[in-house]
Amino acid sequence: MINDNETPQQTPPPDRVLLPTEQSDDQVADNTLRPSRLNDFIGQSELKTTLQIFIDAALKRAEPLEHVLLYGNPGLGKTTLAHIIAKELGGNLKITSGPALERVGDLAAVLSNLARGDILFIDEIHRINHTIEEVLYPAMEDFALDIMVGKGPTARILRLNLEPFTIIGATTRLSLLSAPLRDRFGATFHLNFYTPAEMRLIVARSAKILGLNPEEPAIHALADRSRRTPRIANRLLKRARDYAEVKHQGNLTFIAAIEALNLLAIDELGLDSTDRFLLQTLIEKFKGGPVGLNTLAAATQEEMATIEEVYEPFLLQIGFLERTPRGRQATSRAYTHLKINHTPR
Ligand SMILES: Nc1ncnc2c1ncn2[C@@H]1O[C@H](COP(=O)(O)OP(=O)(O)OP(=O)(O)O)[C@@H](O)[C@H]1O
Ligand SMILES: [Mg+2]
Repeated sequence: MINDNETPQQTPPPDRVLLPTEQSDDQVADNTLRPSRLNDFIGQSELKTTLQIFIDAALKRAEPLEHVLLYGNPGLGKTTLAHIIAKELGGNLKITSGPALERVGDLAAVLSNLARGDILFIDEIHRINHTIEEVLYPAMEDFALDIMVGKGPTARILRLNLEPFTIIGATTRLSLLSAPLRDRFGATFHLNFYTPAEMRLIVARSAKILGLNPEEPAIHALADRSRRTPRIANRLLKRARDYAEVKHQGNLTFIAAIEALNLLAIDELGLDSTDRFLLQTLIEKFKGGPVGLNTLAAATQEEMATIEEVYEPFLLQIGFLERTPRGRQATSRAYTHLKINHTPR
């Protein structure tokens, strides 16, 4: 049982500036700051090399690119890459998403309107429903749409031919994709968290586009606290810009950046109060774990999916958390960061 008296007190984050998922005010920035060619896309060098060859080969053969699946944590550049691929191929990008395709007719309409060489981007493809997925199979394999006509004993399947096209699917949850769907992609690319050096290049690039001239240490401070995620870097940069405008005559100095970050309660590793609260609960209430995700979610009043998809990936990445068969466990690094004594059991 969870006893509320023992629950560490959480101060709610002033705002959720560190969420890697897209927020409503990201869209404008996402569009202006989004690199439009593969050459401007920073980092993910292995992915870029393979993708470039894949694209060049398709162009050389004058054939549509094979279907591409992009997966990786939120804010790492999947949508950006989909735009880039379309641009490099010189094709039109049509955008939809798993949850938007509610009925078979929705997908049939989208597919039958595609012209030769068009690119269909299906975001959150893991959320596509099963009936629709089955329509996608022949479309991806044979560029054909199988439509059931009539009912009962007289029902028959009518096959409509489609123009050759490319599907780019994006997902944050590869494991939720069925094997038959995964198999129909000619290439699957995984986006990793960015290195600190890449993050600095991303912040510097975005600053230049926004017409800012930050001090080098300010770039480092922002990059190092962005959870290795470009979307968060862009968001922190804009917050620091606003702060510098109001408090430092528009000079984005190191001091201005640090003050802005402190105001957002973001620590030097890029953890906010929710991350610290999760770790603190795990350590103080559950002796550091292992504890099941559902128990941890109940104790912190966070959704299981939010912990799993938003907070946990970065905490795992920096080695603060471990996933064991018996649940989540805090590492000694987490103890050290939170300045809690660690007596190994
Ligand atoms: N490699 C990169 N170089 C420079 N900027 C990048 C890079 N990757 C992403 N960005 C920036 O980060 C923002 C978020 O990227 P994007 O929207 O492509 O993420 P996503 O993976 O599609 O996220 P989600 O899973 O939430 O849909 C982009 O607008 C872009 O400005
Ligand atoms: Mg996206």
